[in-house]
Order: sequence, then structure tokens, then C-alpha cells
Amino acid sequence: MLKPDADGLARAATLLGAGELVAFPTETVYGLGADAHNDRAVARIFEAKGRPHFNPLIVHLADAAHAARYAVLDGAAERLASAFWPGALTLVLPLRPDADPDARLSPLVSAGLPTVALRVPDHPVAHGLLAAFGGPVAAPSANRSGSISPTRAAHVLQGLGERIAAVVDGGACPVGVESTILGFDPAPVLLRPGGLPTEAIEDCLGRRVAPRRAGDAITSPGQLSSHYAPDAPVVLEAATPPPGALWLGFGSGCDGAALNLSSTGDLVEAAANLFHALRELDARAEPGQRIAVAPIPDHGLGRAINDRLRRAAAPRG
Ligand code: TXA
Ligand code: MG
Repeated sequence: MLKPDADGLARAATLLGAGELVAFPTETVYGLGADAHNDRAVARIFEAKGRPHFNPLIVHLADAAHAARYAVLDGAAERLASAFWPGALTLVLPLRPDADPDARLSPLVSAGLPTVALRVPDHPVAHGLLAAFGGPVAAPSANRSGSISPTRAAHVLQGLGERIAAVVDGGACPVGVESTILGFDPAPVLLRPGGLPTEAIEDCLGRRVAPRRAGDAITSPGQLSSHYAPDAPVVLEAATPPPGALWLGFGSGCDGAALNLSSTGDLVEAAANLFHALRELDARAEPGQRIAVAPIPDHGLGRAINDRLRRAAAPRG
């Protein structure tokens, strides 16, 4: 575990440069970072996570100005980048065909697709690490594939402790759900609801953003079926506590809840608490005991929360 001070960040940057895996905090969740130029390092991410190679990774940059080295950023994408970077927005953009050889990303990052997912995180430790490393860092969420994303350094160690060189401890992630992912078809398409509310994107563009349709060419793998899943079975829309289950409440009037995502009904607070609460209840659950979650309004960050909860409750493959 490294401290987020100058020494810790310098050590983390050196490890990345040596092709090692380093987990680090972002405003959304902890990422499992590797040098995005280095094929062997990127391959290690897939191995450590147990992640299928056809599921591409997000490339993290210190500065929005670096995006044009790797991808074509124009029109609506450029407007969104200037409005929301640094921040919880990932843009899936065409790879630059004429990229400088120095700007060659490992093809494993985009899983052979002609696009790349880019994000500039809004977190002082992530920014400090990216600046100290001085290059692009590929980073999925720092959890084993299919399990709950980590929002604290201890969560990372629980899932990946033996498999990584270090984790930089930046405390709890303030947003708590992964970034919103937007692709272009060429019209903007929501690939994953996340930490930036879709309404903010629609306000910026002055148009509605279509949700991803099943079977879309730009549908990214790893976005459906069971994911973010605790060991305990999860049931949704529990307005009252189901007998025998651990009840995860939301809002006032959840007497008897084992935990409450936000007793004032604040969706921002609920998102920040979501993954830690699921881990906590999973640890408390007796074998076979269910986690039952109160209804969450489906707007703002509620869309990302409901998306993650639906996957947590999806039939296990
Ligand atoms: O908040 C976040 O986005 C966190 C932090 C660490 O930045 N990262 C994260 O990464 O959630 P991950 O790998 O768990 O999710 C990335 C998603 C995957 O569902 C992947 O399929 C999609 O991004 N993705 C990556 N590149 C893509 C591409 N070229 N086209 C479509 N989808 C892509
Ligand atoms: Mg993930």
C-alpha cells in the first residue's frame, strides 16, 4: 500500500514504467493501472482480473490536451470533453489512423476495435500519478471480473492483493460508481450510465442521448448479464423488508433496514455508498440469505445505481 504523497506517487510511476500493475483511486472507483503502450503490462491486467480479452479497457490521461494524440476528438465529443473533463465521463472515439509511432497504444487496450475509450479523471491522486508517469494508463476497475468494483484501497487488496505490485491509498472514492461511457454512432449513444448524469450530457449537447440498443455495432462486451455481483443473491424493488433478507434501504421510512444508502434520499450520497454497502451486507449475510434493495428513483445518479443493481441481481452465469 503506497501513500498518496510525492514519494508514493514516484514509486507508483516507477512501477508502471517497469510494466507492473498499480491500483490507484479515481473519483469514480479504484482503477487497475498499466502502461497503455506496453503490451505485456496490458496483458497482465486481463490476467489479474480474469477478464476476457475481447473486453476493451479505458485509457486514462493527465490532461484533455493529450487526447488528440490517440483519437479523433471533434464535434460533439470535443464539446463534451471541454465541458466535463476532468470528470466521470469516458468517450469512445475513433483511434487516430495517423498517430505518431510514440503514441501507439497496445492493441490489447481496444481489443482490436477501431475505437478507444478515453477519460481524464478528476481526482488529485489519479492526476498526480498520471503526471508523474507521464503517459497514458490503461485501467479497468480494480476488481476481479464480475465482482463488485472497489471504492476503497482495502477493497482492492481483498480482490487482487496477491496479483498487483501496489495500490495507492487515496481513501474512499467520492463518486462511487464508474464513469458514464458515451460512444458515437455517429449520434451520441449511452454505452453505460455512470457518475456523470445523462441529463448533464443532454443539457450540454441540447439533444437527447439514445441508450445503447441490443445488437448495436458499438455495443461493448462485458456490459450485460451478471456483474457487480456479491455472493449473496440480490433482489430489487423491495419497498418493505422481505422476511429473512438483509434490507438495503434508501430514503426515510426504512426502519428495519440493515443499512441505508441515503436516509435523506440523496442519490449522490447513495452512489458514493453503493459498492461499500453491497460488500458490507455480503459479509454479514448468512449462507443463502438474500440482500433486498429498496426502490431507487431512476434519474440523475439513480440511473447508474439501478444499472449496477440490475446486474448484481441478474441470473448468475
Ligand atoms: O470509472 C471508470 O470508468 C473506471 C475508472 C477506473 O476509470 N473504469 C472502469 O473500467 O470502469 P472497466 O474496464 O471496468 O469498464 C470499462 C468499460 C467496459 O465495459 C468496456 O467494455 C468499455 O468500457 N469499453 C472500453 N473500450 C471500449 C471501446 N473501444 N468501445 C466500447 N466500449 C469500450
Ligand atoms: Mg469494471
